Amino acid sequence: MPDATPRTPSFGRRFARVGPRMDARGAADHRRRLVAAAHGAVIEIGAGYGATFPHYPAAVTAVLALEPDPTLRALALAAATRAPVPVTVQDGRAEALPAADASIDVVVSSLVLCSVAEQSAALAEAVRVLRPGGLLLFYEHVRSANRVLGAAEDLLTPLWSRIAGGCHPNRDTAAAIARVGLTVQDLERFGFSALPGNPRVAHILGVAVKAGA
Ligand SMILES: C[S@@+](CC[C@H](N)C(=O)[O-])C[C@H]1O[C@@H](n2cnc3c(N)ncnc32)[C@H](O)[C@@H]1O
Repeated sequence: MPDATPRTPSFGRRFARVGPRMDARGAADHRRRLVAAAHGAVIEIGAGYGATFPHYPAAVTAVLALEPDPTLRALALAAATRAPVPVTVQDGRAEALPAADASIDVVVSSLVLCSVAEQSAALAEAVRVLRPGGLLLFYEHVRSANRVLGAAEDLLTPLWSRIAGGCHPNRDTAAAIARVGLTVQDLERFGFSALPGNPRVAHILGVAVKAGA
């Protein structure tokens, strides 16, 4: 599959700088809650610099962490050596997961479904690799439910997407998850200001289940 992700080579370096500041403002706690239900064989898409790795619980047997950005992938490789569970880091994209059908217990997405080039393709891949009863754990920023703020995010998206690694601030990711046939079991919606001076942006944190266990 051709790589349709907009190329912003400096994004990885910038995210490696700002990510730890976001973590200190509350994102680390969001990540801890995100993966609390993780277990068995896990695929984490767009793992970034590995900020989620320290939070994986002991019920996880192995994590395959995919990261297409070389700068972030190198940092994730280092973070994997300190992780409490076995983590393998490799190049890869959410739209083409290197796993057999129905072979994975949990897919984890932390602030990635805003950035994937083809969100519906990425979600279809998660459904394909999850075993029946498997979980998609998601933590994402999403389009505001406020009409004016949502419209402002629509206006901002073309520019923001170019400078922020393909990020779309106006995606209704919870609806997209439901559209691929996953059942959203838990869904928390909250505002979060990722950096000082930044507006509080709508985020979702939750669990979706593949039917058929
Ligand atoms: C905002 S960062 C979040 C990183 C990490 N998940 C975290 O929570 O810190 C977005 C990540 O998505 C990755 N990404 C972008 N397009 C992707 C794709 N098609 N498949 C997988 N990851 C992708 C980027 O390289 C980047 O690491």
